[in-house]
Amino acid sequence: MVRFTQDTVDYKTLKERAYNLRWAEVPEGVIPLTAADSDFPCAPEIVDAIVEYSKKGYFSYTPKLGFPEFRQSISNALKRRKGEEIDPDLILPLDSAARAMSVIARAFIQPGDEAVVCDPVDFLFKTTMEAAGAKIVLFPTKIVDGRIDFSDLESYITPKTKMFGLCNPHNPLGMCYPREDLDHILSLSEKYGFYIMNDEIWSDIVYYDAEFTSIYALGNERNSRTLSVFGFSKSFSIAGLRSGCAYCTDPENFEKLVEASEVMSTVGGIASLSQVAGQACLDKCYYWVDAFRAHIQQNRDYALERIAAMPGITCYKPQATFVLFPDVTGTGMNSEALTIRLEDEFKVRIVPGGDKFFGPGSEGHVRICLATSHEILEEGLNRLEAGLKKICSEKQ
Ligand SMILES: Cc1ncc(COP(=O)(O)O)c(C=O)c1O
Repeated sequence: MVRFTQDTVDYKTLKERAYNLRWAEVPEGVIPLTAADSDFPCAPEIVDAIVEYSKKGYFSYTPKLGFPEFRQSISNALKRRKGEEIDPDLILPLDSAARAMSVIARAFIQPGDEAVVCDPVDFLFKTTMEAAGAKIVLFPTKIVDGRIDFSDLESYITPKTKMFGLCNPHNPLGMCYPREDLDHILSLSEKYGFYIMNDEIWSDIVYYDAEFTSIYALGNERNSRTLSVFGFSKSFSIAGLRSGCAYCTDPENFEKLVEASEVMSTVGGIASLSQVAGQACLDKCYYWVDAFRAHIQQNRDYALERIAAMPGITCYKPQATFVLFPDVTGTGMNSEALTIRLEDEFKVRIVPGGDKFFGPGSEGHVRICLATSHEILEEGLNRLEAGLKKICSEKQ
């Protein structure tokens, strides 16, 4: 049986290998509840698949569009888990979800186009679309009555709008999109002709008390301008293997993705081992993801209970992702100054809101990662609580 206990967290190896704001990058003694990456090792089936493939000692060039069996596995998993009907021939394996976002942006955006990006949302939407030449139009993304309010999205669309970034489920807000909102976004795409960058990397980390609906549930015929992203970093704990894919339903759009990806010249492409690992994830490891989800849900509920009793901070209940995104305006400090002080004095690192990671609308918030053991989370929250108590008492 898979366990997500303290003794399964290999702290020594994390200190050596876990970069991107995590254990290998923080000073000794600091607990990082930071980048959206898990503290647990991946499922053993993934390691076995990599070892098995490696035994023969051949790491030859792979098919330029990826291993056919990997593309088939992605298609099967999208169907089985999310009800999406995607032809394996229209799935392009790539070296990460981030790459898929970049490829989609470069395939469809011309310099001078506008792209509508939620504020807040993961920084990759802005950076990939901007790098492709887009002028970014920020859509203030607020939660009203337990869902993201898209009622005035249309006022951010102009004749120059070429792409809208849909992060479903949404990082860092942790919300899934109800069918009506997806319908509304699709109707606008149909009315104005813009493309949708549909990033579903978080779609397997949906809590048991919530429901994920893919935009494809509204019918493939309506989704010809939807360009989608999937990846393995969040659900399967293999971020360093850089595995992901872009997919769509329109063969002409797929050709554009292939061209922008540069896989035909071998400038782009995904490593054989990353495909083998990705395939093992999809074919054999959903039992692990589901157990991980159950563990994270316990962590979420525990953290929300603890945060509710802390001063200067408030948090709603997310439906998906393994991050919390609390409001810390009650501390009277800006997000960055707060996180620096929490790290320096209280030895817990969390991610500040603000322009750098999520957009200017995320100021006044912080992001807390829950993908760790109960014990590490508890100690991290103890430190957060001690810090907030001190900071808030100084205010009075
Ligand atoms: C919404 C979203 N898309 C893409 C990525 C990048 O994933 P990958 O590691 O596969 O590049 C992240 C990582 O946090 C993310 O949150």
